[in-house]
Amino acid sequence: MSRFFCFSARSCNTAARAASYIAGMKKKPIIVVLGTGGTIAGHGASAAHVAAYTCSVLAIDEIMAAMPHAASRADLRMEQLLQIGSENFRNEHLLMIGKRVSAALEDVEVDGVVLTQGTDTIEETAYFLHLTIKSEKPVVVVGSMRPPSAMSSDAALNLYAAVCAAAHPSSRGKGVLVVANDEIHTARDVSKASSFKLEAFHSPYGPLGYIVEGLPRYYRTVARDHTLSAEWSVDQIESLPRVDIIHAYGELDESVVEAIASQARGIVYAGTGNGSIARRIAAVLAQAAQRGVQVARASRTGSGVVIRNGAQPDDERGWLVVDDQSPYKARVLLMLALLGGIGDRAALQACFYRY
Ligand code: DGL
Repeated sequence: MSRFFCFSARSCNTAARAASYIAGMKKKPIIVVLGTGGTIAGHGASAAHVAAYTCSVLAIDEIMAAMPHAASRADLRMEQLLQIGSENFRNEHLLMIGKRVSAALEDVEVDGVVLTQGTDTIEETAYFLHLTIKSEKPVVVVGSMRPPSAMSSDAALNLYAAVCAAAHPSSRGKGVLVVANDEIHTARDVSKASSFKLEAFHSPYGPLGYIVEGLPRYYRTVARDHTLSAEWSVDQIESLPRVDIIHAYGELDESVVEAIASQARGIVYAGTGNGSIARRIAAVLAQAAQRGVQVARASRTGSGVVIRNGAQPDDERGWLVVDDQSPYKARVLLMLALLGGIGDRAALQACFYRY
């Protein structure tokens, strides 16, 4: 009889699993975890400080070390990219993060990337990556609303869930994902909709799925183009054109709009209701469009579509309209769309319906 006799089904399974790991037959996925700061890297004076604390102080390996469960799901390679609140992210940061994510995914050994960042601008970073990363491998952006030091912090569970999502083959090809509060959102739709609640992330058509007991369950896919089918690659972008957002309100002064329009290559106008523009502002924006500034009407309401040539004569004034993109998503999209030049308005308009 063999000396490697199995005493029970359980020990036999364990031995077989160990042997298969050793033989390289069953490997844990390799996930690169990039840290950039935010609340998930924050620390408060006491556990009672759930909303007042210092952001961006813990290094990514410290955060991961406090959460051994993630290492049971994947081999983690940690890297500190930045240590700043995401309100400081400028275009140069988006490009730097995107190029690093892209390089990480090019490594054939790597199965996915988790990017930790502050939640304030997660919706912009994630959407930028969603449109410019050329890979099917999962990229999950994650943050937390409470620092790891707080009572009932969501930091550990969100990060664990993000690693689980990135490590699972069912997350491939779905574009960039944002994981928070047990939910998996598409970068296209998600926005931060609360300044302090754990339930801060919202997608107008609902999340793509949930993380349940460490496993993703998907219920829908993304209808619009992204990653491999999108026309941009972050590796080929060195800078982004200036696109500003102008938020509508009753006393918005024409001179402010004129000052911005004289500097920008694109403007997203977060208009009232269905992207409405007051008559006196419309005159300034029509002139800007004549000079070649691309003006896209969006809505400040937080959801819904903007109707082209509805209440506003977009063709006549040379304006674009968003489909349903928020002003912040529209800004990211218009910056990318303008990389190809500003000449072809119809092509720019088509981007809002394609992505
Ligand atoms: N300063 C904010 C940021 O980095 C902290 C908010 C958060 O991470 O939840 O976006």
